[in-house]
Amino acid sequence: MDPAVLPILQCPRCKTAAPFAGSRMPRCRSCGLEPATAQPVLDLFDATIGGEPLATTNEQRLMESDLVARIYDRVWRPGFVRLLAGRGAGGSVGGLSGELFIHKHSLGLDERPGPWLDLSCGPGAFARAIAASAPGALVVGLDISRAMLDVAAQRTGGYPNVVLVRADAHALPFVDGAFGGVNNAGALHAYDDPELVFREIRRVLRPGGIYCGSTFAEAPSLLGRITARAAGIRRFEPAELRAWLARIGFADYEDVRLGGALVFRVRRP
Ligand SMILES: C[S@@+](CC[C@H](N)C(=O)[O-])C[C@H]1O[C@@H](n2cnc3c(N)ncnc32)[C@H](O)[C@@H]1O
Repeated sequence: MDPAVLPILQCPRCKTAAPFAGSRMPRCRSCGLEPATAQPVLDLFDATIGGEPLATTNEQRLMESDLVARIYDRVWRPGFVRLLAGRGAGGSVGGLSGELFIHKHSLGLDERPGPWLDLSCGPGAFARAIAASAPGALVVGLDISRAMLDVAAQRTGGYPNVVLVRADAHALPFVDGAFGGVNNAGALHAYDDPELVFREIRRVLRPGGIYCGSTFAEAPSLLGRITARAAGIRRFEPAELRAWLARIGFADYEDVRLGGALVFRVRRP
C-alpha cells in the first residue's frame, strides 16, 4: 500500500483522522480497529460491520461474483451499456471509450494535483486511466465488491500510485477535503441512498475539487426501457441531477449525453 494514503484515511468506526501509523499491519491508534486485509486491498468494510455485506439487489449480487468481475470490462459493461443506453453510448475517441475520454478530460487531471478517488471502481479501468495520466498523484480505487477489487488489484499492479480500498460509498473512510477529484462511473443506480453518497463525495472533496460521474438517463430503445424496468435500474434525468447536486452544494453543473448515458461534472465551491 502506498503510504501516501495514510494521512487521508479516517477510521470507519471511530472517525479518527489518519488512524494508521504503518501500512503493513495497520491498527487504529484510537479504537483498535484492524482492517481485514491491508494488501493488496485495504479492507475497511468487514472490520466495520463484522461480516459479509448482504447485497440488496440482483445486480449487486452479480457484481460480487468472481466470473462477472473477470469478464466485466470486455463483455459485461459494453453489453449492458449498449442495451440500456443504445449504440451512441459505446463509441471511442483516440482508442479510449468515449465515456472514459470525457471522464478523464472533465476531471482536469493536468490542472489539479489530486489525490484522485475512483469511487465504485469495479475492476479498475478508470483508476488505471487516471493513474497513467497522473503518474505523480495518488489514485484511490474504492469498491464494496471484493471480487471486483481482486481483479482491480491484478490489473493495477503496475501502477505504484494506485491504492485499493474496500468500503461503502455511503460512509467514505477519508478525512474531509482529502481529494482534488472524485470519479464515479456507472454506479449511481447501484446505491441505496444516492443523496447520502453525494454528501459524502462533497465532504471528501477539497474546495475547488471536481466530481465527475456517469449514469443512465432515458433509454433510447423500447428493449432498453423494458430491461431497465425489469432490473430495477434507476434513471437520472439531467434536470433532476442538476437541481439535486445544487441543493447539496455543488456548483457549475455541466453534462454530455452519450446516447442514453449521461456524463456530468460539478465543482465543490
Ligand atoms: C456497474 S459497476 C461500475 C464499475 C466501474 N466504475 C465502471 O464504470 O466500469 C458498479 C460498481 O459499484 C459498486 N458498488 C455498488 N454499491 C456500492 C457501495 N455501496 N459502495 C461502493 N461501491 C458500490 C459495485 O460493486 C460495482 O463494482
